[in-house]
Amino acid sequence: MPQSRKLLVTSALPYANGPIHLGHLVEYIQTDIWVRYQRLRGRFCTYVCADDTHGTPIMLKAEQEGVTPEALITRVGQEHARDFADFGISFDYFGSTHCPENEQLARDVYERSRAGGHITRRTVEQAFDPVKNLFLPDRFIKGTCPRCHSPDQYGDSCEVCGATYAPSDLEDPVSALSGATPVSRSSEHHFFRLGDFTASLKAFTETDALQPEAANKLREWLDAGLTDWDISRDAPYFGFSIPGAPDKFFYVWLDAPIGYMATLWRLLNARQGRPLTLEEIRKAWGDYEIHHFIGKDILYFHALFWPAMLEAAGLARPHAIHAHGFLTINGKKMSKSRGTFITARDYLAHLPAEYLRYYLAAKLNGRIEDIDLNFDDFRARINADLVGKLINIASRSAQLLTRFAGGRLAETLPDPALFQEFAAAGEDIGIHYERREYSRAIKLIMELADRANRYIDDAKPWEMGRDPAQHGALRAVCTQALNLFRVLMTYLQPVLPAAAAQVSTWLGGTDLSFESAGIPLLGGTIEPYQHLMRRVDEKDLAWVAPAPAPPPAKTQAPAARAPAATIDTADFGRVDLRVAAVVDAQTVEGADKLLRLSLDLGEGRLRTVFAGIRRAYDPQTLIGRHVICVANLAARKMRFGVSEGMVLAAGDGQDIFLLGVDTGAKPGMPVR
Ligand code: 2FM
Ligand code: ZN
Repeated sequence: MPQSRKLLVTSALPYANGPIHLGHLVEYIQTDIWVRYQRLRGRFCTYVCADDTHGTPIMLKAEQEGVTPEALITRVGQEHARDFADFGISFDYFGSTHCPENEQLARDVYERSRAGGHITRRTVEQAFDPVKNLFLPDRFIKGTCPRCHSPDQYGDSCEVCGATYAPSDLEDPVSALSGATPVSRSSEHHFFRLGDFTASLKAFTETDALQPEAANKLREWLDAGLTDWDISRDAPYFGFSIPGAPDKFFYVWLDAPIGYMATLWRLLNARQGRPLTLEEIRKAWGDYEIHHFIGKDILYFHALFWPAMLEAAGLARPHAIHAHGFLTINGKKMSKSRGTFITARDYLAHLPAEYLRYYLAAKLNGRIEDIDLNFDDFRARINADLVGKLINIASRSAQLLTRFAGGRLAETLPDPALFQEFAAAGEDIGIHYERREYSRAIKLIMELADRANRYIDDAKPWEMGRDPAQHGALRAVCTQALNLFRVLMTYLQPVLPAAAAQVSTWLGGTDLSFESAGIPLLGGTIEPYQHLMRRVDEKDLAWVAPAPAPPPAKTQAPAARAPAATIDTADFGRVDLRVAAVVDAQTVEGADKLLRLSLDLGEGRLRTVFAGIRRAYDPQTLIGRHVICVANLAARKMRFGVSEGMVLAAGDGQDIFLLGVDTGAKPGMPVR
C-alpha cells in the first residue's frame, strides 16, 4: 500500500450498446461525489471509466443496425461521454475497452496466468446456430416452455409461468437470431482455474476491502466451491483473439475489468506526453489505492474473478470494492414495458442534473441497499431542501443587502460563535462523505440550513430595512447569513458542483474548500443576487407517465388457451404443493431473468429455488413473503446451482404475479 494516499477510483464500465439510464447514474453519481470530496480535501484522486465494448450482444446490435461494431461503439461511446458530462461526472479519462492498451494487457494477464498453470482447456457441448454459424448464449435461444407450454420463451426461464430450465429442456427450441433449430456442437474452451485462488480469496474476505454484506456473500461462494471459469468464446465474436488460438476470443468479462487498467494507462500516456511501457503501467498500477464502485449484481466478477486474475498476473489487488443496490422508480423496477425506463437524456429534457445528484445523495448510504426514486418525494425534497431551505438563505439576505447596503458585506460577523459552529460541522460531514454515508451528510447540512433560516427569521432584517438607522444592523445580519450559506455550499460542493461554482463566481471567486470554510467572507461588495435554482412543479413531472396499459399480448394469452388435457384427482395429488416463506432473495450473476430464492418449507433447512421473476420483482420486496412451492419436483442442476423446487406464479405473457396465501398460513402447510 502506498505511503501517501494516491487514489484510483472507477465506476463499472457501461456496455456500449444502449443509453445511459437512471439506474446507471446511481453509481456514477455515487462515485463522483466521493471523488469530488477527495479532491476537495486535497487528495490526489484519479477517476477513470470506459465503455465496455465487446461480446455477442454488441456484435449483433451492430449487425442489426447495419454498421460495424467499431462504428457502433464509437457512436455510443460519444453519447455516453456526453451524458456523463451533462451530469457533472468528473472522469479524468473516459476510454473504451476496445483499445490496443487493453488488448496488450488482456494478453499479458492471460499469458501470465497460463505460465502459472492457471489456464486449462477442455471441450464443451453447446447450442449452435447452423444458419448464423455461431454458438448461442442461452438468452438467444427461444422455444415453448416445458411447463406451461407458452410459446416464445427464453432459453433459461419462462416469462409467463416463471419456470427455470436449461435450453435443452425447451420444446421446439429455435435460435432467436435465425429461427433455425439449434444443433449441439462441441468446441474447445479455455478456462481460468479460479479454484487455485481459493486461499487468497478467503483472505480477501477477511480484509476490510469489502462491505460486510459483500464479504458474507463471498464466503458463501467460497464455501460452495469455486469452479473453473470459461474465459473463451468462439468466432465470430467481437473481442480480442486469444494468443495462439486465432479462432477463440476472450469472453467480454475477461477484458472488461482489465479495461480499468488500460484506461489508466491511456491517461498516464496523456499526462506524461509519451507512451508508457507495459512494465511501467504494471508498476504504476501498484502505486494506487484502488477503489471500484459497482452494482451488487456484478460482485462475483469484481470480488472473485478480478482479484484472482490480478494475482495470477502478479498485479496488486483493489483496496476496496464499494457495491450499491439497484434503483427502483416509483417503487417499481425500471422496465421499458412499464414506462419506468428513464434514460439520462429523457431526464435532462425536463429537469436539472443536479436535482438528481441531490436526491440520490440524500438517499445513498454505504450499504448494499436498493433505493427508490419516487418522483413526488423528489419534488417535495428539492422544493423543501434546496429551494425552501438552502437557496432561501442566499436569496433573501443578498437581496436585502443589495437594496439597503449597496451589496457591501460587513467588516465583522455579529455572531461569530454561530459561524464557528457551522465551520466545525465540516469534520463530521467529511467523515460521512468519506464513508459514503451521503444521506447522513445531507441530513447534517440541512439541519444547519434550518439553523441559518432560524437566525434570519429571528433577526428579521426585512424590518430593519424600513428604518435607515438600522441599515448597519441589517448589513451585519445579511453578512452573517451569507457566510453561513457559503459554508453550506462548501459542504454541498461534491453533490452540487455546478451550483457551487455559480455561487463561487457570484461571490467574487470565493474559495469553497473545506479548509477555508472557517474563514469568513467580509468587507467586499457582492454582485446582485442571481437566480440559483427553481422549484419543481407538478407539470415538470408530467412526462413521468404512469406505466401505460400494456399492449395486447402478441402471443396467445393463456386465458384464451383451451385447458390442457384432463387429469384425475390422483394425477393432481402427485404434485406436492407447500406454503413456503421467502427467507432470502437475490439476483443471480450472469442471469438477468432469475432470482435465487431461499425458501423455508418447514423442513428445518432452506431450499434454493431459481425463479424467472426478476423482471417483475425487486428481490428485497420478496423477503418475508409467503409463496406456493412445488415441493416434490426433481432437483435440477442449473448453471448457477441446483434448483430444488418451483414457485407458482400467474402470467399473461406481459406480467408475472406470484401466488400468495392468506395470513396465518405456516411454511410447510400442504396446498390442496
Ligand atoms: O454489468 C455491466 O454493465 C458491465 N458492462 C460492467 C463491467 S465493469 C468492469 F468490470 F469492466
Ligand atoms: Zn412457462
